[in-house]
Formats: sequence, C-alpha cells, structure tokens
Amino acid sequence: MNTSVSNFSREIGTQLKFAGIDDYPMESRQLISYCMNWDQRQYISSLNLPLEKDKMKRIEALVKRRISREPIQYILGSSSFYGRTFFVNPDVLIPRPETELLVEQIIKFVKETNLKEPKILDICTGSGIIAISLAKELPSSKVTATDISEEAIEVAKLNALRHQADIKFIRENCKESISGYYDIFVSNPPYIKTSAIDSLQPEIHLEPRIALDGGIDGTDILVSIIKNISKAFYKKRTAIFLEIDPTVSEKVVEASRLYFPKSFIDVTNDFAGLKRILTIQEK
Ligand SMILES: C[S@@+](CC[C@H](N)C(=O)[O-])C[C@H]1O[C@@H](n2cnc3c(N)ncnc32)[C@H](O)[C@@H]1O
Repeated sequence: MNTSVSNFSREIGTQLKFAGIDDYPMESRQLISYCMNWDQRQYISSLNLPLEKDKMKRIEALVKRRISREPIQYILGSSSFYGRTFFVNPDVLIPRPETELLVEQIIKFVKETNLKEPKILDICTGSGIIAISLAKELPSSKVTATDISEEAIEVAKLNALRHQADIKFIRENCKESISGYYDIFVSNPPYIKTSAIDSLQPEIHLEPRIALDGGIDGTDILVSIIKNISKAFYKKRTAIFLEIDPTVSEKVVEASRLYFPKSFIDVTNDFAGLKRILTIQEK
C-alpha cells in the first residue's frame, strides 16, 4: 500500500526530530515540496494523496543529508533574505536574519539624508544578498560588490541575474585595499574568533571557513576594512555600516575612533538586544 503525503511527512519528521532538528515539521514539508516541485498550497491540497515509491526514495535521500546536518538551505539551494529568495551553495555563507538590519539602516539613512544617486560598496558580498537587496530597494543607487572568493562572486552574479539587479562585481582582498569612492560602505565580514569555530553547531562547519574566520579575536577583517576605508575615501566620506560580533564591539569602536577621529560612531542592537551594527558617519 502506498503511504500518503501526510503519513510520510510525519515519518520523516520523526527521523529529523530524533536527529535534533528543531523545526522538523517545517523541514519535512520543505523537503517533500522541493522534491515534488510543490508550493505550500499544492503541498496542503496533496496531504491525503499517495506518494510514489521513487519519489519517497528521493525524499529519503535528502532526509539523510539533513540528518548528517547539511544545512537545509544548501539542500534546497535557496534561502530568503529581505523578502527575496537567493540561490545558495557551500561556496557562500547562508544569509542570517540579523543582516537584514544592515539593509534597513542603509535604506533609512539614504531617505533621511536625501541622497539622490548613492554610490554603495558592499564589501565581502558572499551570495550578494546585501548588494542586491539595496540595488532593488534603492533603484537610483549604483552598487558595487567585492569578495575575495571567485566562487562566491559567481553565486552573487547568478543572484543578481535572477533579480535583475545591475551590480558591478570586483574580486578584491579587503585586507589589502579598498578602492574607489563611495557614499556608503557596507559589510558583513567574517567575524568569528578562530578558536570559537570548532564549537559552533555542526551545520556551520559546512559553510566556507573563509566566510566565518575573523582571526584570533574576530576583528582581523573588521579592523582592516575600517583602516582601508579611511585611506580610500577621504574625498566623499559619508557613512559606513558594518555587522559585528557583539563581543568585539569595544575593540571595533576603538579602531573606528583611531581611523575616524572626527566622525560620529555608534553601535545599534539586533532583535536579540545584542550589539550588532557599527555605523561611522560624518558629523
Ligand atoms: C560572513 S560572509 C558574508 C556574506 C554576505 N555578505 C552575507 O551577509 O551573507 C563573509 C564573506 O567575506 C569574504 N571574505 C573573506 N575574507 C575576505 C577578504 N580578505 N577580502 C574580501 N572578502 C573576503 C568571504 O568569501 C565571504 O563571502
């Protein structure tokens, strides 16, 4: 006898729960829908229908990958960010919800300062989520995005194409230099302490280490970015927005004061009340 979609969903849900996956009901639905090419409505209307054996086998193979703690976003090949869906693979970091704050703050800043055609640089772009969201939300902006990883830039280019966002991509090591003049600099760089990476949840170990590792105290790349921007844009300095680890806020504020002694420096909290966004602005 064939198993119905709802029974099969329960079955795989139990396996996922047993493997320690918190949101197992949602992930069961996502894995089945992905294999069947269903949206949420089709999934719900198919709950009492039987599932063919070969489809069940394909879904089981995905469940196995998830049980081995491969991130669901890599299995599905997509992740959502700021209301859009982005392609992701193991060459790029999976978008995190707190990064949406960077986008929100920049949109607010552009509106408040009435910047007409803001020139924006997204450093360490990864899958391109920040650059693309800004280009779409601020259609008059001119967005450039950089990353050291050629593979990440390929993913970002695919996402830009998918969302028809006109972005200039450059491969650049931000520790060496940051070139060009921009009104706004934004970055969510690697900022995890090297020693802390091994103790993170298993899924994170499948994300590119180069996207996580911020050096001994987590500030290597953050401080290089602050220093290199201060050298690069002495003409049209407007604002810098950086995502940081809450535990390093004091050190990055100190570096900001050193390289931008005359600017306004501030740190804002994320939804969890943790210090997350550093801003440096002209007074
Ligand atoms: C934390 S991920 C952020 C990706 C994306 N901006 C996001 O918010 O999801 C950091 C990115 O920085 C890139 N990266 C690491 N070291 C770099 C460097 N020295 N210069 C430029 N990019 C670097 C990595 O390849 C990775 O794509």
